[in-house]
Amino acid sequence: MKHFEIAVISGDGIGKEVVPVSLKVLDTIAELHGGLKFTYKEFPWSCEYYLEHGQMMPEDGLETLKNFNAIFLGAVGNPQIVPDHVSLWGLLIKIRREFEQSINIRPAKYFKGLRSPLTNPNDFDLIVVRENSEGEYSEVGGRIHSGEDEMAIQNAVFTRKGTERAMKYAFELAKHRRGHVTSATKSNGIVHTMPFWDSVFNDVKKEYPDIETASYHIDALAAFFVTRPQIFDVIVASNLFGDILTDIGGAIMGSIGIAPAANINLNGKYPSMFEPVHGSAPDIVGKGIANPIGQIWTAKMMLDHFGEEELGQRLLDVIEEVTEDQFKTPDIGGTSSTHEVSQEICDRLLKSKTLSKR
Ligand code: NAI
Ligand code: MG
Repeated sequence: MKHFEIAVISGDGIGKEVVPVSLKVLDTIAELHGGLKFTYKEFPWSCEYYLEHGQMMPEDGLETLKNFNAIFLGAVGNPQIVPDHVSLWGLLIKIRREFEQSINIRPAKYFKGLRSPLTNPNDFDLIVVRENSEGEYSEVGGRIHSGEDEMAIQNAVFTRKGTERAMKYAFELAKHRRGHVTSATKSNGIVHTMPFWDSVFNDVKKEYPDIETASYHIDALAAFFVTRPQIFDVIVASNLFGDILTDIGGAIMGSIGIAPAANINLNGKYPSMFEPVHGSAPDIVGKGIANPIGQIWTAKMMLDHFGEEELGQRLLDVIEEVTEDQFKTPDIGGTSSTHEVSQEICDRLLKSKTLSKR
């Protein structure tokens, strides 16, 4: 029996609606498999918790989370009661940084039952590996003077260790996909860090002779996400470039409600964290219509992380089938509720008797 202990932080708003139904999906998977067990410990850390305790999580919150196999997070934020920078930095960003979650991965693919804003989405299926710990989002820099002389300097920091780490992750991922890695660069305009990025990419790719590679400047690459996303398999990008690309990835799928993400710790010292791309959606909270697919897809990424890739793939196939058969929440043009979509996913998983043999 493989047993995984998962820390669950539903957070705020629709996080509290999409997380519970996703745990039911995970339980269904465990039931089908027979040799898998998930136990959950729920933590009420949220903006409401902040109002009561003056902080987003207790002093020893990280210490507590450290012992779990993974963190399953909904969404954090309720700007009406707590400013966003307080809620985000007090919980989400704190976990990402302190737990050395140095890679952020976000897949995007064409879903059969979804209307992509692209006229010809052409079956694209890609994943962006974003360096999540340094690059353009460094705290090195500062501001000086005021008035006419006011100035600000923000330094981009690229270490060989951080750069190599992200690239190797991308190449390893490509081995299990279609065997292609694209590097997002800008070495024509950014003259120090990006030529460095290119040279590390050239070094790393020599270790993976079976993987095909390409390198595009980020501006052209962003345009290709719109005009021909099907040419991409794995894309490796710096923190800023990856941030921007993944929003385009979500947009061409058709709704932010379905996009998943994972923050991966690579040194094994701390758990990784799985969360959808969307936020707490205060405008639809309490209506029972939040799209649960983003959250359920993050459960698929967690299964992959636990080495259960075949189960993960089966889950994604079922999600796509259900969408194609019009079990859809209003954000993607349907009339189903959160519960109806997730229940349909559970029912179909249970019908697929071949699951454990796949
Ligand atoms: P949001 O993602 O919560 O909502 C943007 C729009 O997308 C809204 O119209 C919402 O109804 C819709 N939407 C989002 N998820 C959906 C779903 N699953 N099903 C159907 N529709 C969905 O972004 P917004 O409004 O900018 O932020 C709201 C709060 O969430 C803020 O406090 C913000 O800081 C926080 N936030 C938290 C994130 C996180 O925890 N990772 C990420 C983004 C925002
Ligand atoms: Mg972003």
